[in-house]
Amino acid sequence: MKILFVCLGNICRSPAAEEIMRQTLKGAGLEREVEVDSAGTYGGHRGELPDARMRAAAARRGYRLTHRSRQLCEEDFTRFDRIVVMDDMNYETVHRMAPSRALADKIERMRDRLSPSKFPDRTYIPDPYYEGAEGFELVLDMLEDACVNLLEDIGR
Ligand code: 4NP
Repeated sequence: MKILFVCLGNICRSPAAEEIMRQTLKGAGLEREVEVDSAGTYGGHRGELPDARMRAAAARRGYRLTHRSRQLCEEDFTRFDRIVVMDDMNYETVHRMAPSRALADKIERMRDRLSPSKFPDRTYIPDPYYEGAEGFELVLDMLEDACVNLLEDIGR
């Protein structure tokens, strides 16, 4: 099983989701069964480490973010089993890039994995890039919650 997380820049949300998912899998002893990666629909940050604010916020929770930003490519649609996007704009962009309808069926929204009891009004994972520090903490809270539920869904 291979999971790809996708956001816009691949320097805030999706690289954090990737590492949180990796640690969540590790906690369940499943890190060898499930491979995770991340990519962005926008390639302007390619080669960069995640945003310093996200790296600092993630490090405080024990996640070391070392991913290098890359842009989503057509091959990702065959290489990965599940493509998990952070917001509706990502969804539209990734959907348009899908080489076929069958491959587009691999696209899903991270918000569908949020626990309704914890995040009742959230319809997407907000982009923290233009926000203050609280934005990063909120995104990490949401991703930690969604990754646990994603793991549960995989197990089903
Ligand atoms: P991300 O955040 O999609 O969570 O990585 C962003 C990072 C960079 C930009 C936008 C969003 N940008 O426009 O450069």
